[in-house]
Amino acid sequence: MKLMVVGGGGREHAIIKKLKENPAVEVIYALPGNGGIARDAVCVDIGAKDIPAIVAFAVEKGIDYAVVAPDDPLVLGAVDALAERGIPAFGPRKNAAILEGSKVFYKNLMKKHGIPTASYEVFEDAEAALSYLDTAPLPTVIKADGLALGKGVIIAETREAARAAVREMMEEHVFGKSGDRIVIEEFLTGPEVSVLAFTDGKTLVPMVSSMDHKRAGDGDTGLNTGGMGTVAPNPYYTREVAAECMETIFLPTVRAMAAEGRPFTGCLYFGLMLTPKGPRVIEYNCRFGDPETQVVLPLLESDLLTVMMATTNGTLDKTPVTFSEGAAACVIMASGGYPSAYAKGYPIEIPDDLHDHVVVAGAVDRDGTLVTSGGRVLGVLATAPTLREALATAYARTERITFRDAFYRHDIGKRALAAVKE
Ligand code: AMP
Ligand code: GLY
Repeated sequence: MKLMVVGGGGREHAIIKKLKENPAVEVIYALPGNGGIARDAVCVDIGAKDIPAIVAFAVEKGIDYAVVAPDDPLVLGAVDALAERGIPAFGPRKNAAILEGSKVFYKNLMKKHGIPTASYEVFEDAEAALSYLDTAPLPTVIKADGLALGKGVIIAETREAARAAVREMMEEHVFGKSGDRIVIEEFLTGPEVSVLAFTDGKTLVPMVSSMDHKRAGDGDTGLNTGGMGTVAPNPYYTREVAAECMETIFLPTVRAMAAEGRPFTGCLYFGLMLTPKGPRVIEYNCRFGDPETQVVLPLLESDLLTVMMATTNGTLDKTPVTFSEGAAACVIMASGGYPSAYAKGYPIEIPDDLHDHVVVAGAVDRDGTLVTSGGRVLGVLATAPTLREALATAYARTERITFRDAFYRHDIGKRALAAVKE
């Protein structure tokens, strides 16, 4: 089979490595891929948002199955455009990808269908939002409606900070049109859990749970990033919590989307907070999480391609999906300075025996040498029977990989270990 994966980060590398385990796979094209992905797939210089070029390439190569991994092409309708030309693809249609594309959409959906989430108000007018803030409880959470490269959420401790966030979003348009409408919502507390789930629009199969580490520095200090490391499973997500989430959140979401005439197929990502009052949805994503995928897929025992195709064909109820009982860890190595300004072009040294355990996020091939090209450069992975062992192995591997000014967090999994009973 000829496969195509749209995207070019660590998540896509993890997906490609897993897809390759199926012996029926002859070739995988990555659009655009990156210098590290090039070890595992044929990289093609087509951007992940260039839908006409993606479709034309797929038709020309006779692609049997496509995986659209990032949010942007999904929200722009890549899966619809491929399907129109007869190419089946993993991921939601445009009308379902709105679940990530608009926070106003998903907040209203949850309210209408009784799915537990933070209470909220929607504003389309800066004056109204500012006057609401005069009496809103603090801290308060301000969210730009549309996609904002993961930066559109501000947690404001003071009224001044909250007002400044509203002005930046609605008057200064720092997130462009994404900030024309905003959501102001209740501040929740509790451990955060990411749960990715396969769904064909009717059946939903949750994957092993995971925990992201979003801040740049040890001890959850510093700026928010795209994610500095992950562990799976997330020990806060017990069997009881999982059962409650299935009942009150996961199945109701799938049913709600179907009832709205927007059946969701692909990977539905639930960003949850386990509050003292029970699990609440913080956000939905319409795709695999990055870097959650890097710890979830190595624990998948079933064939990824078979499961993905079942979500497209509507046969997930007849397709076994199993995960191993073990644990996985991913440590992200980033360029010094990230998530603020950083230099690029530094050679990366990866010992030969580690390539199977590395997914590359931001690097290019320069005359046969892998050099840094992004803030998050690569993820170092390990699986083991216990989380403690997985973390020890991931860190031992991380120490053997070098590039100038590299940095990584030293406490990935620390909070999870404190909660783990092993
Ligand atoms: P998001 O960009 O939606 O993933 O939000 C970024 C982060 O903001 C989340 O991972 C949470 O840590 C935090 N967050 C978002 N909404 C809330 C909320 N209502 N209460 C507390 N923290 C929140
Ligand atoms: N790790 C969070 C995300 O993929 O959005």
